[in-house]
Amino acid sequence: MRAIHASAAGGPDVLELVEVPDPTARPDEVVVRVAAAGINFIDTYRRSGVYKVAFPHVVGSEGAGTVVSVGAAVTEFAVGDQVAWASAPGSYAELVRVPERELLPVPAGVDLQVAAALPLQGMTAHYLVTSVFRLAQGHDVLVHAGAGGVGLLLTQLAAARGARVISTVGSADKERLAREAGAAEVIRYRELTDLTHDLPAQVRALTDGLGVHVAYDSVGKDTFDASLTSLRRRGTLVLFGASSGPVPPVDPQRLNHAGSLYLTRPTLGDFTATREELTWRSHELFDAVLAGSLDVRIGATFPLADAADAHRALESRSTTGKVLLLP
Ligand SMILES: NC(=O)c1ccc[n+]([C@@H]2O[C@H](COP(=O)([O-])OP(=O)(O)OC[C@H]3O[C@@H](n4cnc5c(N)ncnc54)[C@H](OP(=O)(O)O)[C@@H]3O)[C@@H](O)[C@H]2O)c1
Repeated sequence: MRAIHASAAGGPDVLELVEVPDPTARPDEVVVRVAAAGINFIDTYRRSGVYKVAFPHVVGSEGAGTVVSVGAAVTEFAVGDQVAWASAPGSYAELVRVPERELLPVPAGVDLQVAAALPLQGMTAHYLVTSVFRLAQGHDVLVHAGAGGVGLLLTQLAAARGARVISTVGSADKERLAREAGAAEVIRYRELTDLTHDLPAQVRALTDGLGVHVAYDSVGKDTFDASLTSLRRRGTLVLFGASSGPVPPVDPQRLNHAGSLYLTRPTLGDFTATREELTWRSHELFDAVLAGSLDVRIGATFPLADAADAHRALESRSTTGKVLLLP
């Protein structure tokens, strides 16, 4: 089969298409023929060496497709089932081994590309609004990169819970998408002269001078200080990514001085650690798609062989919504 390998840590050029033996399912795994593999920012952290992995590294962790073989201990899935997953190493490939505990059944009526677009970014948006901070009517929320993969889903889920979303985006096109997703206010943060000063000033102007209850910050280095200063007293900063680079160490005294703030740095694995929690989140998301209340925007698709171009697009801030690889 064909797969995408990274031979060493580096830029998108290290991604190469290789021929490798077909995988065989271990007892608790299935092998899936991949219809679409999800591209996620975390794939770029692993490829570039920001997150440590062993090389050569078989890239990707997310996708959807059809089960072609099952291990001896698998009980809930059979050949022919349509499935999706957020966490199976080596998903940029024609075939991938997926542990049974990671499998999400794809309901009839959900397209496999939509199914591939949802698990990682969708379950992230879901845990952010349900479990990290229980959003409800009356909450003011700051969502950075509001037209991105996580951003569009997070905005929709937050608005559906009655929160008022203030979104930051990088362009006019992205502003339109963020508003369509339910953002009440949009700030084009790349146009601000001094982001760290001007962004909180705009957020306060939009919130009667108080600031937001919660800031969801996946941009990291460039926005962290502005997010902290945009919070109201006892507000929560949810740092969940580093698209612009990692945030330097923080002195806890800053949380005290800025109004008894909360700071958390969550990761999806801790919010899908049990099979029960994983299926609760995925069922709610697939149900919302089927009900027409959650729109999954696939902003771009690339052939498997063009994985490097897909990474270049994601890292250059030119993508919106989900980016998929189609083996
Ligand atoms: N902790 C978790 O559980 C978890 C799970 C999933 C994803 N994440 C994180 O969530 C973030 C979003 O992931 P995604 O896959 O949905 O990506 P994405 O948001 O679709 O793409 C990243 C976006 O970030 C913005 N950005 C700002 N500064 C940037 C920079 N210097 N370089 C590149 N992009 C920049 C860009 O939007 P603008 O043009 O609008 O600025 C860009 O489109 C990532 O940081 C990822 O690591 C975390």
